[in-house]
Amino acid sequence: MSTLESILKETRSFAPSDDFRHKATVSGMEAYNALCEQADDHYLSFWGDLARELITWKKPFSRVLDDSNAPFFKWFDDGVLNVSYNCLDRHLALDGNKIALIFEADDGEVTRVTYAELHRRVCQFANGLKSLGVGKGERVVIYMPMSIEAIVAMQACARIGAIHSVVFGGFSAGAVKDRIQDAGACAVITANESVRGGKSVPLKATVDEALANGGCETVTHVVVYQRTNGGAEWTEGRDVWWHKLVEGQAETCEPEWMNAEDPLFILYTSGSTGKPKGIQHSSAGYLLGAANSFRWVFDYKPNDVFWCTADVGWITGHSYICYGPLANGATQIVFEGVPTYPDAGRFWKMIEKHKVTIFYTAPTAIRSLIKLGGDLPKQYDLSSLRLLGTVGEPINPEAWMWYYEVVGGSRCPIVDTWWQTETGSIQISPLPGAVTTKPGSCTLPLPGVMADIVDESGAPVEPGRGGFLVIKKPFPSLVRTIWNDPERFKKTYFPDEFNGQYYLAGDSANRDESGYFWIMGRIDDVLNVSGHRLGTMEIESALVANPLVAEAAVVGKPHDIKGEAVVAFVVLKGARPEGEDAKKIASELKNWVAHEIGKIAQPDDIRFGENLPKTRSGKIMRRLLRSIAKGEEITQDTSTLENPQILGQLQEPVR
Ligand code: PRX
Repeated sequence: MSTLESILKETRSFAPSDDFRHKATVSGMEAYNALCEQADDHYLSFWGDLARELITWKKPFSRVLDDSNAPFFKWFDDGVLNVSYNCLDRHLALDGNKIALIFEADDGEVTRVTYAELHRRVCQFANGLKSLGVGKGERVVIYMPMSIEAIVAMQACARIGAIHSVVFGGFSAGAVKDRIQDAGACAVITANESVRGGKSVPLKATVDEALANGGCETVTHVVVYQRTNGGAEWTEGRDVWWHKLVEGQAETCEPEWMNAEDPLFILYTSGSTGKPKGIQHSSAGYLLGAANSFRWVFDYKPNDVFWCTADVGWITGHSYICYGPLANGATQIVFEGVPTYPDAGRFWKMIEKHKVTIFYTAPTAIRSLIKLGGDLPKQYDLSSLRLLGTVGEPINPEAWMWYYEVVGGSRCPIVDTWWQTETGSIQISPLPGAVTTKPGSCTLPLPGVMADIVDESGAPVEPGRGGFLVIKKPFPSLVRTIWNDPERFKKTYFPDEFNGQYYLAGDSANRDESGYFWIMGRIDDVLNVSGHRLGTMEIESALVANPLVAEAAVVGKPHDIKGEAVVAFVVLKGARPEGEDAKKIASELKNWVAHEIGKIAQPDDIRFGENLPKTRSGKIMRRLLRSIAKGEEITQDTSTLENPQILGQLQEPVR
């Protein structure tokens, strides 16, 4: 309710300046409305025309959409293309000397890579992968720091038709192992270490741990990029240095020509069970979504310097670092480090230094930078900026206003972009030269996106009322299936409640009188911690895997910087611990979760009870736990609780 109230109170709005609107690719609301009408009236030719305009095809497609086996939709399915060719080769004829990547290392060292150079590196690495026997359709896990090499690795997989699955470098050995196993990967690409905030993090050692003790026999090779002088344990015959692998490889590599529907990648994301889902994306539809949204939402111009601060381990880094910008021939920043090192002015310093024009980051980063130095941006020349963006979670209006005024000098439109791992590309966002923005709203769907908010029966809800966010028609960049689990795909995203017709996003949302969308949060047991998606069940499974733990329930509570923080309610096998004992076990369990999943999943708060509150049928009363976690007064009916005194226990944080 409090979210709803604050939404309804927000009255500020910001129209694009005349200057911005005149120069924009989609200029003014008439242009936006005309595109929406085209999509409404001629849905298939709308997407077909874009696919012909934005993608270079080896063999053109003859059919736009095959929906005969819904919800397993196929787009452009007899077309043939290569995604890496579209991101690299086709720009060479225009200007191979254009800078593709400006890489800034943690210590500030800058490396510039032209399109010609990137093409050469991708081809050599692709040839290297082929020499190891990696071929079309095989899966390759990429566990890399933010680096030029991470992008080369992804593009090289795309070039030879191998399916990459990037695992975020902050995930632990357990998470790496699960993903290798589920994907049946034949190779892992990693680095000896990564460097962030002046500290090195062992990546290769984590891969070694994932591969130890059996269970990953599909992996025959581990390719190791040497980022630091730090060593690495070596398994002869399996491990190979990146620089040795590319030595002497040919500088060109004929792309593997792929069918439009051949998978480009799998990216694991959290859902409402303990097991992450392998979100499988296609080649052509995904590329079209990434390329077109980059052009429209970021109003991309050839002389822009684009900077998306996401990690390639998340979907944002896939679509708006590896694929969207490269497909458009853009120049972009790739940053190895963290926003707070050597100090909280790092982002602003880099924007000044590289004359960044478009800056795309997460609300959690904005909030933490406000806290660490709200006046810092004023010490830098940020006049190169012309457009700002946010992604990953709702942005609170105060943070939005600060971003607008202090970073953007009240000059730059903000695109608050709503989308998901599953949608592959931005779906709801202002087009900055057309749509008036309101702080906290992702505004209107992109042309061609049939988003709506419906009730349990699938009927649209009236303005001001919350409901389920759905997309009523399939679109090219939508997830194709869950790797190895088509049933789960159908059940999760196209549930029978809506006759299997609508894509159910898993968010609740609300629309105001002008039709603007306001995202309210997840409807499933998924948390959004610092813009990272975490399943409560995943963290619970990790906790109960600890020998001390009998039962655990995990919920989120609001957090000023992270958006949401993890709270775990734990029942031990032995007696409920108190005092120093409780402190020691809580800290042990926090480390345990960091080791099982990764630091990002670590609970902020662990509370011990003799039991968990359950309904008569044995279901954990999560709503009650959420109230307890927030420190709210308990208004729910607790008369069915067998042991009401546990509530007092669960209200007691371990200090
Ligand atoms: O709840 C929504 C939130 O992030 C979820 C998707 O998470 P993930 O697949 O990790 O992708 C994040 C990057 C695209 C959504 O279901 N979310 C994402 N963008 C926004 C958002 N919530 C509010 N506003 C947004 N702009």
